Amino acid sequence: TERTLILVKPDGVERGLTGEILRRVEAKGYRIAALQQFSATTEQLAQHYAEHEGKPFYQPLVDFMLSGPVVAAVLEGERVIEGFRSLAGTTEPTTAAPGTIRGDLGRDWGEKVQKNLVHGSDSVESAEREIGIWFG
Ligand code: GTP
Ligand code: MG
Repeated sequence: TERTLILVKPDGVERGLTGEILRRVEAKGYRIAALQQFSATTEQLAQHYAEHEGKPFYQPLVDFMLSGPVVAAVLEGERVIEGFRSLAGTTEPTTAAPGTIRGDLGRDWGEKVQKNLVHGSDSVESAEREIGIWFG
């Protein structure tokens, strides 16, 4: 069965939304196969966000991800990669659809980086790569 790597980003952990986010994942029917809180390292984030290196939001994004603990999880289920991204909603929390994690729980805070609560892998290849980064 398919696997994906999700992160509750520092804004989600700081706001005490980890449980609410995992509740939605479980209510949808996905299995949590691994779960751990981390203080991310610069090396982990450089690997995790390699596709964004050189973009204007890269350094603010990395600094934000270093600003507090993150919770990483491996989820399992049929079509879980698209399923979790659907639960998460679109990137910008201000306009993400109500009913989604970002749409219901997120907003703009006037900062350089989009604080949007969660990450979810976007393909089978990135899921396997990202599971390796966070869970070895
Ligand atoms: P992830 O699940 O976190 O990967 O989100 P995503 O797939 O919806 O977005 P993407 O991979 O394109 O970007 C990764 C992260 O960088 C986003 O979640 C945002 O936190 C941030 N980001 C992406 N695009 C922008 C942008 O145009 N401006 C700013 N300020 N931040 C951005
Ligand atoms: Mg992405």
